[in-house]
Amino acid sequence: MFLRHLTLENIRSIESLDIDFTPPEDSVDPVRRWTCILGENGIGKSTILRAIGLLLAGSETLPKVIDDPTRWLRLKAKTGRISAQIATQEGEVRDISLDFKAKDTLTAFLKRNEATLKPLDAALRHTARSYFTAGYGVSRRFPSPDGDKFQSSSVPPRAASIATLFRGDSCLRSIESWAMDLHYRKGSAGLSMIRQALNALLPEVKFHGIDKDNRQLLFNTADGRVPLALLSDGYQSIISWYGDLLFRITESFQDYKKPQEARGLLLLDEIDLHLHPKWQRRVIDHIRTTLPHFQFIATTHSPLTAQQCGEAELYVLKREEDKKHSVRLHHYEGSPDFLRIDQLLVSPIFGIETGMSLRIQAMREKPAALRTAYEEETLRSVPRPRVDQETEDEKVALLRELRASRPSRKAAVGPARKVGASAGPAGRSMSPARAGRPGPAAYIPPPVRPSGRDLISAAFKAK
Ligand SMILES: Nc1ncnc2c1ncn2[C@@H]1O[C@H](COP(=O)(O)OP(=O)(O)O)[C@@H](O)[C@H]1O
Ligand SMILES: [Mg+2]
Repeated sequence: MFLRHLTLENIRSIESLDIDFTPPEDSVDPVRRWTCILGENGIGKSTILRAIGLLLAGSETLPKVIDDPTRWLRLKAKTGRISAQIATQEGEVRDISLDFKAKDTLTAFLKRNEATLKPLDAALRHTARSYFTAGYGVSRRFPSPDGDKFQSSSVPPRAASIATLFRGDSCLRSIESWAMDLHYRKGSAGLSMIRQALNALLPEVKFHGIDKDNRQLLFNTADGRVPLALLSDGYQSIISWYGDLLFRITESFQDYKKPQEARGLLLLDEIDLHLHPKWQRRVIDHIRTTLPHFQFIATTHSPLTAQQCGEAELYVLKREEDKKHSVRLHHYEGSPDFLRIDQLLVSPIFGIETGMSLRIQAMREKPAALRTAYEEETLRSVPRPRVDQETEDEKVALLRELRASRPSRKAAVGPARKVGASAGPAGRSMSPARAGRPGPAAYIPPPVRPSGRDLISAAFKAK
């Protein structure tokens, strides 16, 4: 099962939001495989992932994760809704939704939503693997020695597989005890699957094997052989959720040999948590390659991660500058992976004004007559914002290229130009909207010289 469309109305910080997951026209996939949601702290990124988790939970899991339905309603709202269109394994398209009302009890909430829950429950009873969903929140961690009630056998596997999205105190399945168990039951074949899977995902650190006496996994690192518990937080964070995911795939699909062939939906909050920028750049690529049949919905704060998104894969949550400060979702229709990191940072996606530090920016913005000798001296010694100038030059070059190659205005609504085919340097952000979707079919530069920001804005479309 994959998500084709998601709508939220009056759910926590989000008044109204719409995300389309239908794939590009030329794609053979049933949905867009990768979606990344970027946004400042406290804007609603985790809320979106949790809402998806709720919607696909089913009535056995829902009470375990929802807590109190009224807490999901936006403050002062009387009703709210999470709805989605899903595509089943057989290619059927179904609409499902959860309706919330003020003062709802859990029983009333479950009763009202029977129309969605009953068919979903029947599908989950019949073929849970076809609805495989896993979600990882920011407090993904290994179990403490005294265990975790979300991992007890009385908790439905579906609740355990999304528990960390909802509860900071829930833990993941320990990969160490699972690996021991797999080794015991399946011998070296079980361990070899774990080795292959981890080594495909982890850069620079390699899985060595298990230390049976101490019931721990050993890894070869630049510093020598160390147990999992002594790896850095970044590695532990990624191994924790990935190990849990492998465990859940093998349990659901009853196939421990090729977990990478499984299909499903994976929700990853702050995908690059604890990762060094070098690894932030690679994490999307690694996950995409390692799990080629999954649909991923991830959140991030990181420009380096956002930069790895392809055409139309990036959404940005922003607060409006109006009185209500309402949260709005913007769809970046272009290709962030065509932008340089400095372009991305100063584009409306991040809205950072400049590549300079705040202190130097303040000095530069001060009228020269008011600057102290020290400030003048400092400004002379720091590098000039050359990159920004380069960016401007590239944008001008792009504009020239666009003007030169521009068809007549009548013909401008022709077939969309293939991204990457001939876009100029900064035009990488300007992929036209896909055929069949609303939006500018081709960007026609205005007669006056636009600023770099205008160019990038053209690909930054509010939903
Ligand atoms: N019932 C509610 N009504 C309105 N806003 C809410 C409600 N519950 C939480 N919030 C707001 O939602 C935001 C939390 O959203 P969250 O998804 O955790 O953000 P993010 O993951 O982007 O940091 C906070 O700003 C919080 O104030
Ligand atoms: Mg969050």
